[in-house]
Amino acid sequence: MTIPNKNKIKKLFLIISLFTTVISLSGCNFLANSKTIVRISHSQSETHPDHLGLLAFEEYVESKLGDKYDIQIFPNEILGASVKAIELVQTGAIDYAVASTGNLETFDNIYQIFSIPYLFKNVELYHKVMEDKNFTDNIYTSTEEAGFETVAWLDAGTRNFYATTPIKTPDDLKGKKIRVQQSPTNVKMMSAFGAAAAPMSFGEVYTAIQQGVIDGAENNELALTNNKHGEVAKYYTYNHHQMVPDMLIANLRFLDSLTDEERQIFDDAAAICTKVERENWDVQIEAAKAQAKKMGVEFIETDIEPFRNKIIHLHNEIIGENPKLEPLYERINEIEKEM
Ligand code: GCU
Repeated sequence: MTIPNKNKIKKLFLIISLFTTVISLSGCNFLANSKTIVRISHSQSETHPDHLGLLAFEEYVESKLGDKYDIQIFPNEILGASVKAIELVQTGAIDYAVASTGNLETFDNIYQIFSIPYLFKNVELYHKVMEDKNFTDNIYTSTEEAGFETVAWLDAGTRNFYATTPIKTPDDLKGKKIRVQQSPTNVKMMSAFGAAAAPMSFGEVYTAIQQGVIDGAENNELALTNNKHGEVAKYYTYNHHQMVPDMLIANLRFLDSLTDEERQIFDDAAAICTKVERENWDVQIEAAKAQAKKMGVEFIETDIEPFRNKIIHLHNEIIGENPKLEPLYERINEIEKEM
């Protein structure tokens, strides 16, 4: 038997390794190119109702179009805090993001409507308004020029103040530094309450409270547990100043690239996302309250009227400055009367 010489063996190795490299590279490309990756960003943890809704979105789309689309969800602000994520959707770097209307306000001021404090008399009215297409259609498409639109709303409960010291009346807010979303209307609201607004991203709030940079913040109860703010702020006051939804926004070029059938599937998935998110909302809020109490958070029930009276003049002021809001405000009043 002839044993090949050293050079021949080297050549053989080279050929084999080149061959395997080509195979594996082409294999990778094939896998990467065979499906379109659809990236979705949000700022919550993997147990939050928004995430559960998005998992249902993923499951639905992939059950129908799994050979073509790979839905990838990025939680916990991994791809960037809310405003950054909106910009990524705007440029098409990612396809979808969940964003609070507070943060959408600077992309189109029609979203200011939700930041008006004490806009909805109760949760029933808020939900009814959000399901009213006459109300939502204009809002959803308002950011077309900015390159994205809203495809679904998600419940984000009622926002209340929480702080390192108890807030029982609006006077307790005087001189306090309270974190708000990056929204000019929220800054206005805080100054009407006599407090100093500290706009910052959601992910920065824990450390800011812990280090005494701010005295508190305002949000729904899940912020206490999912985001652990209850570890550093022990007083949560039910003053109910806002019901501010989260919006699932999508890049327009991505939506336009879909066939009519595909678009229908993605839209149905968005509706399923809302349904699943809302089914989980109330259950999780109850669980969050129980968990926050165990963390030592005191829940304060208070008379909301003094809070409301303090800022009610903002309704006329904000609507006077932004005529787009007038028909929306009227529609809310109409729905309220129909109830
Ligand atoms: C809520 C809301 C988020 C938002 C956050 C905030 O948690 O669901 O979308 O980013 O409030 O206050 O920034």
